Amino acid sequence: MTAKIIDGVAVSAKIRTDIATRVTKLRERGITPGLAVIMVGDNPASAVYVRNKMRACAEVGIQSFKYSFPADAAPQQVLDTIAELNKRDDIHGILVQLPLPPHFAIAQVLQTISADKDVDGFHLYNVGGLVVGDTVFPPCTPYGVVKLLEHEGIEIEGKNVVVVGASNIVGKPMALMLMQRDATVCICHAKTRDLAQFTILADILVVAAGKPNLILPQMVRTGAVVIDVGINRLPNGRLVGDTDFEGLKEKVSYITPVPGGVGPMTVTMLLANTVASAERASGG
Ligand code: GUN
Repeated sequence: MTAKIIDGVAVSAKIRTDIATRVTKLRERGITPGLAVIMVGDNPASAVYVRNKMRACAEVGIQSFKYSFPADAAPQQVLDTIAELNKRDDIHGILVQLPLPPHFAIAQVLQTISADKDVDGFHLYNVGGLVVGDTVFPPCTPYGVVKLLEHEGIEIEGKNVVVVGASNIVGKPMALMLMQRDATVCICHAKTRDLAQFTILADILVVAAGKPNLILPQMVRTGAVVIDVGINRLPNGRLVGDTDFEGLKEKVSYITPVPGGVGPMTVTMLLANTVASAERASGG
């Protein structure tokens, strides 16, 4: 079997066209969606992500505002900035790029963002919404994965889904979103013994572990769907996911490439959440 390679760039482009139309409608009513992006320190990967997010905003007509703080900034300075942004009518989304320097209490920073502007979906209110199946802002990466599955017409209901990785940003919300869609979900993580005995059961395998070549062809059922959320930079500079892409593509039915799979969808769903927030704030 040769897999269909899921083209996240193409799916993103379609969704972004719809988003741009919604932005145009808002702007006709005098509302320009606005996203504030807060970055603390100079983590090079974060700098690239932030630049990509802001460029994507500009392309669909969302205004973005960057707030940069040095790595040794006082947490209170950042909290005060968030409090001000919470009050501003021209800001519909607030994103704090993670990770933060070690002297920051991430939970405290995330809980300071107004739940109404939490376009990353990390505030406890939105996390709770995810648990009960009534989310306002789904977290962008798992939201993007669901959109990719939907776009390819891959059924979720009743399927065995195995999520490898139990982070707050990807693994846990991914599992909740797929459970909400009536999949049978198993979450594996760094302490899972004999990972393969779980992954082999997956109709849909979502991998977000941050380990190159973690998933090999013998760990996956023939015809499975593999969604690779990993982004790893090898010593030779190559960007790879968490799976043996070349080996797996001869065995599975669908697979996402890295780069060009889930990555662009994360940014796209951030745009979607920001526009949804502006529509919500304007009552439409
Ligand atoms: N760092 C890695 N992924 C993300 C994300 O989706 N949002 C934010 N804010 N930071 C991240």
